[in-house]
Amino acid sequence: MAPFGCWGLPATLLVLLCCPGAGEAFEVYIRPETLVTSLNKTLLAQGPQWKSYLVSNISQNMVLYCYFSCSGNLQLEVLNITVYKPPKQVTLKLQPSWVAVGKPFTMECTVPAVEPLESLTLSLLRGNETLHTQTFGRENPAPQEATATFNSTAHREDKHYNFSCLATLDLESRGGSVFSSVSDPQMLKVYEPMQDSQMPIIIAAVSVLLFLFVASILLCFAFSQRWRQRRTGTYGVRASWVRLQRAFRAQ
Ligand SMILES: *[C@@H]1O[C@H](CO)[C@@H](O)[C@H](O)[C@H]1NC(C)=O
Ligand SMILES: *[C@@H]1O[C@H](CO)[C@@H](O)[C@H](O)[C@H]1NC(C)=O
Ligand SMILES: *[C@@H]1O[C@H](CO)[C@@H](O)[C@H](O)[C@H]1NC(C)=O
Ligand SMILES: *[C@@H]1O[C@H](CO)[C@@H](O)[C@H](O)[C@H]1NC(C)=O
Ligand SMILES: *[C@@H]1O[C@H](CO)[C@@H](O)[C@H](O)[C@H]1NC(C)=O
Ligand SMILES: *[C@@H]1O[C@H](CO)[C@@H](O)[C@H](O)[C@H]1NC(C)=O
Repeated sequence: MAPFGCWGLPATLLVLLCCPGAGEAFEVYIRPETLVTSLNKTLLAQGPQWKSYLVSNISQNMVLYCYFSCSGNLQLEVLNITVYKPPKQVTLKLQPSWVAVGKPFTMECTVPAVEPLESLTLSLLRGNETLHTQTFGRENPAPQEATATFNSTAHREDKHYNFSCLATLDLESRGGSVFSSVSDPQMLKVYEPMQDSQMPIIIAAVSVLLFLFVASILLCFAFSQRWRQRRTGTYGVRASWVRLQRAFRAQ
């Protein structure tokens, strides 16, 4: 038997497993000898040239080492385990949600705890049109949540579209699949800004109202004065007084 032609192990294995917490398990087929890992492993079955283990409770990326001997030579096989967390709970916020045509607003998309972050893309959408995409570098440690923000200017037609955020975790290059999740749709309330030409009309209307108000107050005042004069009989008193004076002079 040729010393290295023994069991034709694959050079490396990249195992992807979903990890919504500890406790997920997968099977590793390793031909003879020993699988070295701190994880809980259970020998499922074995043959003359292989052993099958169930490895459980993986919660982070790690490397598994498998030692085996081939024609008396100790050999080592390395397996890289990549843990992934698909995006869930994608949240989009539009701030402010009421905005005048031509004024700025901010789209902010957040998605908690996605791994691996460098496989994540966040797309900010208006209807089916992509306004902005954001990718992430390898960050250490991974942040609690991935965020994409985009500043835009409100257009008149924006009120006819739903804004949304699409999170995509693409693991195809790593032998996995594509996971995506989209936020609830958000609508932007767009209103017409106050035109400069409307300003004089508003000023005129306010002036007329003010004039009417002042005029009515003055009228009220004048009427109440006349009414009081009639009641208190000012003229009568004055006339008597004049008469009295005349009478006094005549004496
Ligand atoms: C390891 O896994 C086996 C089978 O799943 C289980 O019976 C055992 O309790 C586990 N050991 C530990 C330390 O959790
Ligand atoms: C699973 O892993 C966590 C930490 O990674 C550890 O605290 C816990 O004891 C492990 N459970 C089992 C059953 O191995
Ligand atoms: C496995 O991981 C080690 C170190 O973490 C790295 O050097 C090696 O290139 C990786 N292998 C593959 C196939 O990704
Ligand atoms: C986007 O939607 C419009 C209608 O709202 C449609 O005409 C167009 O084909 C769509 N484009 C894509 C790329 O889906
Ligand atoms: C968006 O605008 C806000 C202020 O309105 C600013 O603080 C922020 O840095 C801007 N973000 C981007 C991505 O340009
Ligand atoms: C926006 O989303 C809401 C809720 O999903 C839906 O009822 C409405 O038809 C959508 N509007 C457009 C323009 O896509």
